[in-house]
Amino acid sequence: MKLVIAGGTGFIGERLRKAAVSKGHEVVILSRHSQLNFPAVVWDAKSSGEWQSAIEKADAVVNLCGTSIVDGRWNMRQKKQIYDSRILPTRALVAALSQLKEKPKALINASAIGFYGDRADEELDESSKSGDDFLAKLCVDWEREALMAQSLGVRAVCLRIGLVFSKEGGALKRLAFPFRFGLGGRLGSGRQWMSWIAVEDLLEMIFSLVDSEILGPVNAVSPNPVRNNDFALSLSQTLQRPAWISVPRWVLNCALGEVSSVVLSSQRAFPKKIAASGFKFQFEDLSSALNFSLK
Ligand SMILES: NC(=O)c1ccc[n+]([C@@H]2O[C@H](COP(=O)([O-])OP(=O)(O)OC[C@H]3O[C@@H](n4cnc5c(N)ncnc54)[C@H](OP(=O)(O)O)[C@@H]3O)[C@@H](O)[C@H]2O)c1
Repeated sequence: MKLVIAGGTGFIGERLRKAAVSKGHEVVILSRHSQLNFPAVVWDAKSSGEWQSAIEKADAVVNLCGTSIVDGRWNMRQKKQIYDSRILPTRALVAALSQLKEKPKALINASAIGFYGDRADEELDESSKSGDDFLAKLCVDWEREALMAQSLGVRAVCLRIGLVFSKEGGALKRLAFPFRFGLGGRLGSGRQWMSWIAVEDLLEMIFSLVDSEILGPVNAVSPNPVRNNDFALSLSQTLQRPAWISVPRWVLNCALGEVSSVVLSSQRAFPKKIAASGFKFQFEDLSSALNFSLK
């Protein structure tokens, strides 16, 4: 199978590249950089160019492009960068697909559970409506761009990814950092739901989606979202450190501004579509994922 991965140098993309190569797939990475220690096709992620021919005859294109949402406060400039780094590459990829004689069967495009906004205890699946904050509106526009591929006869999947847990870095490393020094605890009220997924399950989900007939939004989350309170408790048990500190919402708001919504918003999302397809998770419950990822 030939897989093109845009944003294949990032946290998820790097792992997807290695997993795909180890399964014997042909992998083409699209990157804005040329000095990499593996072959990649350079693109500018915004406009047409030589890179378009690299997509020809691919079985699927996986688009994981987007600058980090948690590096820096969300001023107007940062918001534009977060927005453009997702919308423009998606638009460029779909435009490239329209030019190809032999189009890929699928476009698997990143999105996020931020699509749902802040939803308290509501149980969310792929049919739930979107939220109305910055991230939610971004995800709505991002998914709309990706779904344009459908009109070209390319099956489009929008992966609404939850917090990705991995042994090597990412959200879990940042969240676990204060706990390692005995300074961990709940964030805000601790009642907000966190939807998470182990990176191993996310990668297998992407492979299974390439081979499936599933289209449209897919929640890429484990079947067991947890409240932040329970997450803090489970993390402290796994690391054998106390979790006695609680950081009030106003402190997070002052320190992080609007970025605090990433940890304070509540999304109780369930992987209804992928579960219905028979997909089996390796890590269904939080303690097994934390034990694997942190030890
Ligand atoms: N990790 C998570 O917990 C999580 C959760 C929900 C959703 N997601 C979404 O999943 C996607 C991948 O996440 P990740 O954690 O792997 O991200 P990451 O480590 O930040 O990597 C993102 C990739 O996007 C490319 N990129 C960055 N800025 C770009 C720009 N302005 N134009 C074009 N490409 C750009 C980079 O590739 P080059 O520098 O090689 O061009 C980079 O390798 C992102 O869209 C993210 O929003 C991630």
